[in-house]
Amino acid sequence: MVDPNFVHQDFQRRLRKIPPQGMGLSVDVYSPDLFELVNKLRERGLRPGYLEVFKAATTALTTVRQFVPDMPLAYHGEGLWITQPDVQESPFFQQDVGEMVAQLNSVQSLWLNHECAMKQMAGYSFGTYVPPLYTRLSAEVVAANVATVQQAMDRQGRRADGTAPLFLLEMPPLTYFSAGTIPIPHFFRLVTALVPCGLVLDIGHLWTVYRYTDACRRTSLERFVREFLDEFPLERVVEIHVAGLACHESVGEPKGGEGLPEWIDAHAAPIPSILFTMLEQVLAHPNLVSLRAVALEVDTKPIEMIVEEYAEAVRRFSLLVQRTMARGTAVEQSMGLTPRPATVQEPVCQSDRQQLRDDYARYAQIISGQAPITGPEWQETAAEATGLARYRTSYVPHEILHWGGDLAEMFPQTCRTLAERGICLTEFVAFWFRSPRPLTHSYDFFLLKIERFLEFVSERAPDIRDCVQQECDSLRLAYAQANEVGEPVMEMEPSQ
Ligand SMILES: [Fe+2]
Repeated sequence: MVDPNFVHQDFQRRLRKIPPQGMGLSVDVYSPDLFELVNKLRERGLRPGYLEVFKAATTALTTVRQFVPDMPLAYHGEGLWITQPDVQESPFFQQDVGEMVAQLNSVQSLWLNHECAMKQMAGYSFGTYVPPLYTRLSAEVVAANVATVQQAMDRQGRRADGTAPLFLLEMPPLTYFSAGTIPIPHFFRLVTALVPCGLVLDIGHLWTVYRYTDACRRTSLERFVREFLDEFPLERVVEIHVAGLACHESVGEPKGGEGLPEWIDAHAAPIPSILFTMLEQVLAHPNLVSLRAVALEVDTKPIEMIVEEYAEAVRRFSLLVQRTMARGTAVEQSMGLTPRPATVQEPVCQSDRQQLRDDYARYAQIISGQAPITGPEWQETAAEATGLARYRTSYVPHEILHWGGDLAEMFPQTCRTLAERGICLTEFVAFWFRSPRPLTHSYDFFLLKIERFLEFVSERAPDIRDCVQQECDSLRLAYAQANEVGEPVMEMEPSQ
């Protein structure tokens, strides 16, 4: 049996190695251009306390490290699907963890931030994050996987001061729906009782939890936040994110202006003022005792807007953030903790893992519209299924056809020929989710699209296989070349 007190002490020992960073920015190297952004901030006399950089080519990250030698850097990882019961058996897991540790070391990162979400499950792939099943078993699996990654960082991840980065688990956004049998704060409390990780609380994600659970129908936002924070393991929150929210292009703005907008996480969009009101409420909570940093998450946002929003946020919040961080360090120093070895997680048994794998297979089939909404995790959703219907009928098709590479732009010749024959591209969505598939490489949505579209066309129009094959070859070549020089091949908005 894991002792939660022991786990929490291990967390505090690790936290002590992370100095307060204050207010900063969570950014992407390419989008917008990070060097231009830093220069524009300098011109305005703004110097972020730290930068959290999203996963990129290691060479690009090394260049960032050299460009801002005095600025603390943190790392926003991607592609370790720690929600999944079989992730450690994936042939690419060790390689992905190894690459991530190399990137953490190249920027001398304070921590690894990773979303508690996935883009692949049980052989099905998606383009943007899908939240985990909020169940007890799922929490145990997340904790076991986080412990494994933390152990790898303890072994190989090193900063100049000899400390290893800390795993920070971010509560993901909801995109129109949630599924599970336990409340979300309870889920994170179970995880943190088992593993000494920190947490990232994203204020916009919290808004989506209000919007896409029954909370928005039964209570006010202010009361929801208060109740949520009382239940959530706030003492583990090391970093806060604030990012934009917007209606998705496949859904559009609401017509009558009635009720709450159908916003989802949207880093390119302006930060709505309601999120700053929520931030005030979070910073005032007495359980927030481990805070080290607050970042505006601004990847894919226009530089002018970033500079304006950051200047305003610093003006309004920097003193409050400093005070909150000081509150935490004082509590922790008074505890005088002695170092302990990393916690070893109890393994989750094979039959439980298999059970959860089956649950995730059903999850993928339900949200992609291939299976009816049944099962204990879906009771609340089934009662008010408009959000899930939105996801299935608008969001997912848009993701497969347009997001991260528009099919008609990627394969112009093939798409023209298919249209002439009356083969509609929407058939590709059903094809994509028709059956689970073994993984053939580390997650890469662009390469997956190429691979699956080739299969689709080969099946539906075998006589134009040469044409689609040619278009695939040139896309792959351009992509490989772009990756070598560390530049994105197309406008692919990262969803973080
Ligand atoms: Fe975030």
